[in-house]
Amino acid sequence: MIIAIDGPAASGKGTLARRLAAHFGLPHLDTGLLYRAVGAQCLADGRLGDEAASVAVAEDLDVRTLDPEALRTAAIGEAASVVAARPGVRAALLDLQRRFAAQPGGAVLDGRDIGTVICPDAPAKLFVTASPEVRAERRYKELIGRGEPARFEDVLADIRIRDARDSGRASAPLAMAEDAALLDTTQLGIEEAFAAALALVDSATSRHP
Ligand code: C5P
Repeated sequence: MIIAIDGPAASGKGTLARRLAAHFGLPHLDTGLLYRAVGAQCLADGRLGDEAASVAVAEDLDVRTLDPEALRTAAIGEAASVVAARPGVRAALLDLQRRFAAQPGGAVLDGRDIGTVICPDAPAKLFVTASPEVRAERRYKELIGRGEPARFEDVLADIRIRDARDSGRASAPLAMAEDAALLDTTQLGIEEAFAAALALVDSATSRHP
């Protein structure tokens, strides 16, 4: 079974994807980490503005070397969103995501274009969202919890910029697939959101076994 989960930054999709993967005993790929790794390398090389360099980094990406903790900073998230708008970067990362999804037994993938581009035939698709203010509050607490200096207003502004760039780009924009189920987590705690996600996945897979 393939479970495709998309949504904007800090919507809760990553936590839900991990919980669903554990529940169903499936491997999980946080596809944002791929774009973060490319963005981080371009930042380190001082070549974020160089499209060809970012495509070359994406083509050479070794997923075994990804360090999720190191890649979760706000600056790397922003750099990821810049390189993710480039069609060549997206094309370079397509195959490895599709191969991950094609594992026997299935997989859970979360990102921005899983239900629309990477796994359009996934039987279970969720689009997880929440208001920008609630997402900014979650991201702010996460940054503070990790000891990263942050101001709520800046985090909210970053979220709005990232939403606009991810939704407005020409190549695989953040969008809800027509056959995805919408899960708005604005008013939900993690346990309620997980219960709702599970119910939506169960209902989707009973319709498309
Ligand atoms: O989900 P996360 O915040 O880690 O993603 C970082 C950035 O990577 C996003 O803002 C988005 O621009 C990009 N991304 C993408 N497609 C995906 C996953 C992430 O464009 N499937």
